[in-house]
Amino acid sequence: MDTLELLKSRRSIRKYKSTPVEEDKIQKCLEAARWAPSASNKQPWEFMIVTNNKFRQKMAEVHPYAKFVSESPVVFIPLTDPTIHSDYHQSDTALATMQFMIMAHSLGLGTCWAGVINKPQIENKIKKMLNIPNKLRVLAIVALGYPDHTRKSERKDMESLLHREEY
Ligand SMILES: Cc1cc2nc3c(=O)[nH]c(=O)nc-3n(C[C@H](O)[C@H](O)[C@H](O)COP(=O)(O)O)c2cc1C
Repeated sequence: MDTLELLKSRRSIRKYKSTPVEEDKIQKCLEAARWAPSASNKQPWEFMIVTNNKFRQKMAEVHPYAKFVSESPVVFIPLTDPTIHSDYHQSDTALATMQFMIMAHSLGLGTCWAGVINKPQIENKIKKMLNIPNKLRVLAIVALGYPDHTRKSERKDMESLLHREEY
């Protein structure tokens, strides 16, 4: 598949098969995340992989828009460290997360990002549940697993968003 086709065919997956994800595939996704660009190459991220059923059920309870993590066999949790780069920690870690998701898609796996970082109640509960150190922030919880549905998505027309030379 060419790169544009790969990018266009990735969808947010909210139904998962119970098939476990092979460890070598998880490692490839993590490696893709680790090689993301970051401001001044500070790499202000840490990563968590959660497969424990109890934690996944609890996360689904705590996050009203992430029920699917109770089904996905794996949850990827990108953590971001504002003390490493206060200006760009979120955008850097978002890029790492996107690279994880694209790698997953290229391996036939589905993902769905559920935002956490601007939802303090949810973030605090997840930090407490998983013993995440106080200085770190939880960017998102990202389901990972084999898709059990297909989806369509839409994008704005290019004409409505592109400006050349001057606005
Ligand atoms: C920052 C961010 C937060 C998101 N939060 C949620 C969420 O809480 N729950 C959810 O089901 N999807 C969430 N999504 C997925 C979006 O709904 C999805 O990317 C969008 O509808 C486009 O669909 P597609 O990914 O299939 O192209 C989030 C995506 C991003 C980038």
